[in-house]
Amino acid sequence: MEKKTMLYEGKAKKIYATEDPGVVLVAYKDDATAFNGQKKGTILGKGAINNRMSAMLFTLLEKKGVPTHFIEQTSDRESLVKRVEIIPLEVIIRNVAAGSFSKRYGVAEGTVFDLPTFEFSYKNDDLGDPLINESHALAMGLASQVEMDQIRAYAHEVNRVLREFFMEKGIDLIDFKLEFGRWEGRVILADEISPDTCRFWDRATGKKLDKDRFRQDLGNIEEGYREIISRLED
Ligand code: TMP
Repeated sequence: MEKKTMLYEGKAKKIYATEDPGVVLVAYKDDATAFNGQKKGTILGKGAINNRMSAMLFTLLEKKGVPTHFIEQTSDRESLVKRVEIIPLEVIIRNVAAGSFSKRYGVAEGTVFDLPTFEFSYKNDDLGDPLINESHALAMGLASQVEMDQIRAYAHEVNRVLREFFMEKGIDLIDFKLEFGRWEGRVILADEISPDTCRFWDRATGKKLDKDRFRQDLGNIEEGYREIISRLED
């Protein structure tokens, strides 16, 4: 078979060209990093699980009217997606305090918000993905006002859809990070939606079923990933 041309290698995924210039192949890796790459490890089976979960959730979101880059899953750990120009913003919605929110503002982890919060980070590894506001992003030309408004609306819609979907599976969606891309003049949802990019807590026990098991050395990391995907595929 013809050797695929790799276009980009990130911390958790590789991107390959296909014969169609408008389509790329995403290959999910088992590599895991935290704290801007300072902590490194491997989570066996993670790539396949993140691929399956992203495929499932992008398909659900498309059905609910949120456009995504997802085309189809082609193997255990690979999917075809539309080639987009990534907007360098990490878009984060939180339903419950955890992670950097708890640390930054001194709010106890587990504090439930009346309304979801919305924030951006500037996606820039050299700077450690700093928190920025909308006027900063506009000033830096990272996105237009129209794109910002679209991103905010889609992010809240993703939260409504996913929160309900996970609740039915007995899981609380605590927070998550999205990335958007430009495609044919529009903004569409890109990247992945997985236990690497979301916090999932078991509703009954509060058990963490996401990458915090790796970030915080909680043990049973692979088991957490396997448990969440098996709940979704039940
Ligand atoms: P935070 O509480 O560390 O800011 O994380 C918020 C959410 O974003 C959480 O669900 C994990 C996710 N996330 C990423 O997907 N990538 C990252 O690099 C970081 C720091 C967080």
